[in-house]
This record gives sequence, C-alpha cells and structure tokens, in this order.
Amino acid sequence: MASGNGSNFEAIVQAVQSGRLGADIPLLVVNNKNCGAHQRADRFGIHVEVVDHRDFPNREALDRQLVGLFQSHRVDVVVMAGWMRIVTDVLVNAFPEQLVNIHPSLLPSFRGLDAVGQALHAGVSISGCTVHIVTADLDAGPILSQAAVPVLSSDNHASLAERVQKQEHILLPATLQQNAHRWRQG
Ligand code: GAR
Repeated sequence: MASGNGSNFEAIVQAVQSGRLGADIPLLVVNNKNCGAHQRADRFGIHVEVVDHRDFPNREALDRQLVGLFQSHRVDVVVMAGWMRIVTDVLVNAFPEQLVNIHPSLLPSFRGLDAVGQALHAGVSISGCTVHIVTADLDAGPILSQAAVPVLSSDNHASLAERVQKQEHILLPATLQQNAHRWRQG
C-alpha cells in the first residue's frame, strides 16, 4: 500500500528482483491515482488497484474494501510503504500480525504526521526509521527493526528526510525477509 512517491515500494520490488527478498507482489494499492508509486508499479508491470479514500464514507468502509482485495489475492502480509491513511480495526483484525508499516522516526518518538519535521523541531541528534507491526494504536505496534541516522546541525527537512529514506530502502526489504517465516502459509 502506498500513497506517494513510492520509493519504499520500489525498494521492495528491487529486493525481490535481485533475490534478496523471497516474495511475490500480487498487487499495489494506492489511494492517489497519479502518485509516483502507481507510475513505478506500471514500470515494473505490477498490478495496481486504486482505492481512493475520497470515495468512501469513513475509514472503516475504505478498510473493508482493502480487506476484500487482499483476501481475494490471498496475500500473506500487507506492507504499508508510505500509506498515509490511519487504518482501523477492520484492516488490523483481518490481518493480525500480518500488517507492517515503515515510519520515518525511531519510534516511540515522533508518531504521526511529519515525523522528520518533528525530529528537527525537537532538536534530537539521532533519528532514523522503524519497521513495526501495525495495531489499532497509531505507530505503536511491536517494533521489528530500526535504523539510526545522525541529525546534523546543517540539516533541513529535505536533507534529513533523504538520509532517513536511504536507510528505509535497506531496512524495509531486509526486515521483510528476516520475518518471512512469520507469514508464509507454506
Ligand atoms: C516514507 O519515508 C515513510 O517512512 C513515510 O512516508 C514516506 C513514503 O515515501 N511514512 C509515514 O510517514 C507513515 N506514517 P515513499 O513514498 O517514497 O516510499
């Protein structure tokens, strides 16, 4: 699942293609039709479903649509690779321990929106990214892995975000591979 640029989605695809991640990617779900993630999936020939949150009366209805899609594709694990919507119990309970998120901070610091901006504002000297299991509590589920990066006094939002993202692109595919035994149906 992705909402924006899709660089983490592409990192997963490249890990699969290079044999670092043993997985099949049956579909990408995007909520913004023209997002970069959609274009990247088209380039790789990966099936895309557009599920636009603006077409649903509430978050639960959106998540019901997602659950139906993922069940019809018989997925073992769902990855939120820059999915910028709050998910509900509907999705979490349909995929218990099978819903994974990447977040651009060292959780439990800086949950929620603009974690990079929050880190800069707080003046921390180390930040990073976290891969975690999604629960009903926002950005608070069990942590699978983290990577740290320095925050430099010269940093602005773009430079710190870029440093964090470089680590995300390594951490997310590696974490999926390390935890694959949790999800394979055999
Ligand atoms: C990533 O940095 C990811 O950690 C963040 O969105 C970015 C998506 O980039 N996710 C969140 O903030 C979730 N709360 P991408 O579209 O290039 O992968």
